[in-house]
Amino acid sequence: MKILMVGSGGREHALIRKLKECSRVDEIICAPGNGGISFDAQCFSVDAGDVCGMVKLAQEQGVDIVFVAPDDPLAAGMVDEMERVGIKAFGPQKNAAEIESSKVFSKDLMKKYAIPTAAYEIFDDPEAALNFINIQNQYPVVIKADGLALGKGVVIAESYDEAEDAVNSMMKDKIFGDSGNRVVIEEYLTGPEVSVLAFTDGKTIAPMVSSMDHKRAFDGDTGPNTGGMGAISPNPYYNADMAERCMESIFMPTVHAMNDEGRPFKGCLYFGLILTSDGPKVIEYNSRFGDPETQVILPRLITPLIDIIEAVIEERLDTVDIKWSDKACACIMMASGGYPGEYEKDIPISGLDKNGQIIDVFVYHSGTKITENIFKTNGGRVLGVTALGDTIEEALLLAYSGVSKINFDKGFYRRDIGTR
Ligand code: AMP
Ligand code: GLY
Repeated sequence: MKILMVGSGGREHALIRKLKECSRVDEIICAPGNGGISFDAQCFSVDAGDVCGMVKLAQEQGVDIVFVAPDDPLAAGMVDEMERVGIKAFGPQKNAAEIESSKVFSKDLMKKYAIPTAAYEIFDDPEAALNFINIQNQYPVVIKADGLALGKGVVIAESYDEAEDAVNSMMKDKIFGDSGNRVVIEEYLTGPEVSVLAFTDGKTIAPMVSSMDHKRAFDGDTGPNTGGMGAISPNPYYNADMAERCMESIFMPTVHAMNDEGRPFKGCLYFGLILTSDGPKVIEYNSRFGDPETQVILPRLITPLIDIIEAVIEERLDTVDIKWSDKACACIMMASGGYPGEYEKDIPISGLDKNGQIIDVFVYHSGTKITENIFKTNGGRVLGVTALGDTIEEALLLAYSGVSKINFDKGFYRRDIGTR
């Protein structure tokens, strides 16, 4: 079997490494990929968002399955286009991917189907939004751009002034373009956050092992929101009782809701949950695998990933018994100085072997390239150093020991992953 992986980050690297373990997978190619990925899959320079280019590549290469990993091509309908030309693809169609690409759609869906989430109002006029915030006079208040915004479209404002800045920059200055045409103003929730990713074929839903992301840039959950600075699995706050409760009140109702809306969801559905004193609530849906959650979940998967992917595509997920290991896993993200703001690229990385790895850990490459046989930085998030252990503590110790062997100028990482 020949697979095309669409994307270029640590998530895609982890997916490719896992697919390589499957005996039925003969060849994996990736577009556009990155320096580290090129040791596991031949990379082609087609942009992940280029739907026509990707269809052409899939046809030319005669691939059996296309795995569409990032949000943008899913929102642009890459899966629909692959299917239209008769190529099997893993991921939701465009109308189902809207569960992530429009926060207005997902909030209204949850309201209509009584799926627990933060109270909210939607605005398409900045003055009306600010007037509502002013009258409500409750801080912090959460302001979310409707559309995709590279994970930066959520602001937690502590005061009216901060809220005003956020609303104006999204709705008037259009810092996220059309994604800020509408905003969601939302109640601020407190409690531990849990990421639960689930395979679903639109009928059956199979949650994966739980995980915890660390979205803030710096130790102690300070600094700006990032794509994710590290993750652990399992999430210590998520037990079997909670899993059952989430299945009944959130996971199954979401699958049914999408079917009732005529948008059956097939692929990986990601539930960003917050465990409030009032019970679990949804803070966001993603229509894809999370990054860096994938890096800590997949090393724990025992069942061949290709068997699950095929079952999802063929809508027979109920026939697969998915097995997970009891081990714990930790991923530490090494980032470029300045990330998530401006950062330099092309900085040489020391400590990696010629394949971009080191012993005892998995080094998933997020943003690297190779020039003259040297690995160099090529993104904000650079490497996800990941380890398995019998406990979270053991996994963290191994992962941090890996991190200590790798260096690049101005690089940084959080020292408190998994200690929350
Ligand atoms: P999102 O991009 O929707 O995942 O939001 C980014 C982060 O903002 C989340 O991981 C939460 O930490 C925080 N957040 C989003 N919505 C809320 C909310 N209603 N209450 C508290 N925190 C939130
Ligand atoms: N780590 C969060 C995300 O992938 O959106």
